Amino acid sequence: MSNKEAWGTRIGLVLAMAGNAVGLGNFLRFPVQAVQNGGGAFIIPYLTCFLLMGIPLLWIEWSMGRFGGKYGHHSTPFILDAIDKRKFWKYIGVFGIFTNLAVAAYYCYLESWTLSWIWHSVDRSFAGKTQEEVANFFGTYVSLTSLEPVFFWVICLLLNTWILSRGLSGGVEVASKIGMPLLILFGAFLAFMAITMKAGEHGAIHPGTTGLNFLWTPDFSSIWTAKVWLAAAGQIFFTLSVGMGSIQCYASYVKSKDDVALNAMSAGWMNEFVEVVLGSSVIIPIAVGYFGIDRVIEMTTSGGLGLGFRTLPFLFEQWGPALAVICGVCWFGLLFFAGITSSLAMGTPCMGFLMDEFGWKRQKSAWAFGCAVLLLGLPTVLFFNEGVFDEYDYWAGTVSLVVFALTETILFAWIFGMGKGWKEITDGADMKVPSVFKFIIKFITPLILLFVFVASIPDIVNKILSAGSIYVTLSRIGLLLVWIGVAYLVYIAYRKRIKEGRFTS
Ligand code: ALA
Repeated sequence: MSNKEAWGTRIGLVLAMAGNAVGLGNFLRFPVQAVQNGGGAFIIPYLTCFLLMGIPLLWIEWSMGRFGGKYGHHSTPFILDAIDKRKFWKYIGVFGIFTNLAVAAYYCYLESWTLSWIWHSVDRSFAGKTQEEVANFFGTYVSLTSLEPVFFWVICLLLNTWILSRGLSGGVEVASKIGMPLLILFGAFLAFMAITMKAGEHGAIHPGTTGLNFLWTPDFSSIWTAKVWLAAAGQIFFTLSVGMGSIQCYASYVKSKDDVALNAMSAGWMNEFVEVVLGSSVIIPIAVGYFGIDRVIEMTTSGGLGLGFRTLPFLFEQWGPALAVICGVCWFGLLFFAGITSSLAMGTPCMGFLMDEFGWKRQKSAWAFGCAVLLLGLPTVLFFNEGVFDEYDYWAGTVSLVVFALTETILFAWIFGMGKGWKEITDGADMKVPSVFKFIIKFITPLILLFVFVASIPDIVNKILSAGSIYVTLSRIGLLLVWIGVAYLVYIAYRKRIKEGRFTS
């Protein structure tokens, strides 16, 4: 992604941005968060966080990215530096590379399971198995009793690297133009199957609508519970991919006069459609149809992976051999497309940094990213059962996002200033941005982010103080070293720029 790199078409850009947002989080994380936080009680905080935190952050990140792109910067350290010259902003920008690397490290492993589960749906590995046997299949898989998980993981990394090496318009855009429509098609088909499921048919005890009603009947009883708000905010971060640095990178390749306001809304709302409409219409209606609400709440305590990989293949088998294959391929196929369009976005900030700062070619940068993810992801593959995967998810996929989103919002709204910030959002805009967002971005969004950060501190402290296994401790040290390593590269790049007199802003 040299500076000559650019998006081919507007639809390609919007689909790539939507693909960045639409991910495994939409289909596995969202339904579980909703169930765990009271179903209808979750949806009000969730939508509030989307309007007051998600949309503002989308506009902030898209406009920051386009702003940095004007000066030839495609990764957050130097995008932030273009906004304010104080030295430490570059190091805050390190989060925008670190998070992508560390999230990609565990995310690509998860993505690779979907390839394996597609294969096993086709070769009917789940046929005739009891629910426990299908669940055990997952347990055996992640315990690495064979080399299959490593095989699919490496295939997945190679695929990501190859697409990235083809560039934005020739790789990422093509993947998004194929992946997103197929994902919506598969999702719509599965949602139709789930919602029209009848009680008494194929062993279901409730109709598909029971689970849907549970998710969609507003419930105000727990609306003032901090835990529900934290979960809702966390989901908004993860699903929109805000606070990561990937949106800024994609947006830095938008032409300086092109719209960001409407593009950001198109991609953001597309993500919400996929999450709220499709994401809530598959896994929960089917599971509740067979097990009832209480049992499903119990089953989701171990997260969305359980239902998606351990339970759903068993339930598809209840629908007969043909539907079991078709639904298995659609479900894991849609998860694969959701995953890969997100992991590709995680590759671009690291590549943008290497190309901008060290003059690397696109292919070399893509391979560097692939190798870094291979190294960093290896512990999550080898020590999945020891909690390494969850540890990465906590520090990189949760805490880092909040820290970065809070600091970048302060930079944008208070240091760059809302006057200039508003101009960046509305310049070239193909929509009228409601001016109330000037107030929201300046006051409400930072306050919500501050609340989320402060409310998370006890948990963070608890986590640090709790004695984890040696694997967990080593993975924390490893992540810290990655952060320091990226910061060191930023330092070298900065010195290099000074030496070469390459500061344009
Ligand atoms: N936004 C991506 C997801 O939801 C990371 O999975």
